[in-house]
Amino acid sequence: MKKVVLITGASSGFGKLTAEKLLATNEWVVYAASRKIEKMNDLAEKGALLLKMDIVSDEEVNAGVAKIIEEQGRIDALLANAGYGSYGMLESVPMEEIKYQYEVNVFGNARVLKAVLPQMRKQKSGRIVFTTSIVSHISMLGLGWYASTKHAVKAMAVALRQEVKNLGIQVVLIEPGVVKTGFDSIAVDTLRKVNHPSDYKPLVDGFDQYMVDSYTGCPGPESTAKCMFKAITLKNPRAVYKTTMDSKLLPKVKAHVSSSFFDKMMLSIVKKSEKKFHGNN
Ligand SMILES: NC(=O)c1ccc[n+]([C@@H]2O[C@H](COP(=O)([O-])OP(=O)(O)OC[C@H]3O[C@@H](n4cnc5c(N)ncnc54)[C@H](OP(=O)(O)O)[C@@H]3O)[C@@H](O)[C@H]2O)c1
Repeated sequence: MKKVVLITGASSGFGKLTAEKLLATNEWVVYAASRKIEKMNDLAEKGALLLKMDIVSDEEVNAGVAKIIEEQGRIDALLANAGYGSYGMLESVPMEEIKYQYEVNVFGNARVLKAVLPQMRKQKSGRIVFTTSIVSHISMLGLGWYASTKHAVKAMAVALRQEVKNLGIQVVLIEPGVVKTGFDSIAVDTLRKVNHPSDYKPLVDGFDQYMVDSYTGCPGPESTAKCMFKAITLKNPRAVYKTTMDSKLLPKVKAHVSSSFFDKMMLSIVKKSEKKFHGNN
């Protein structure tokens, strides 16, 4: 019998590639969920079942999960992956945008989690895989609100891992670093839309350039999707997968230096990028 997985954020990036990998095994019924269903037609052609699911909507999340249970009678795995980055200096990002980012990245995950858990408890089995990030361990100027959402998801996932361990449900965290998907264009776009006070201009320009450079020549989604596939399919997956070199190394570096040294390091990186920004513009 095929196993059943729900993947949120399956219209792009990590979610789409992981869906393709699972479909290729012919051992999984893949429910691919996102807001823009037309972006998943290629997955439907490969056998995925599509769900229009905005994770900020109780109605859409509950209806989607109910449909899976009605059609399959079970849910073996959830890849809670939908999310986005909203960049900008902390003071400048409008309150509405901060709340919406939490609504998607934190409360959206909570909504999907609460919808699938009763079924997994009933089955006495299940796998919940969260896409967190390198920024669930570190934060830096320009992306503080986004990093705070990923810190929150990590905290939630670690607690859940302990709460459901004896109920037959396993919880896995996926921690990518900088990876080329659809993520960076949305994140940089939000940064450029924010109305920053002029005091922040040197940091904003430097951070903008740093992000553009970081996402040029960074790895693609393959290594992360490979880890997601393992997290969903292995009998005994690891609790945490750090999926790129930077996500393996940077948190270790941070743990070995003082906070003031770390701040100096970040500010000097951004200062260098600011010089480049003004050379380019
Ligand atoms: N790429 C990176 O550098 C990186 C690093 C660390 C962590 N991450 C995390 O990885 C996850 C996947 O991102 P990605 O890199 O694959 O970026 P992506 O290519 O932009 O994919 C993001 C996915 O999330 C979905 N999504 C966004 N808002 C949603 C909402 N309100 N409801 C339902 N779905 C929503 C999008 O679908 P629709 O727009 O069609 O709804 C899309 O399928 C995110 O949680 C992100 O924070 C990314």
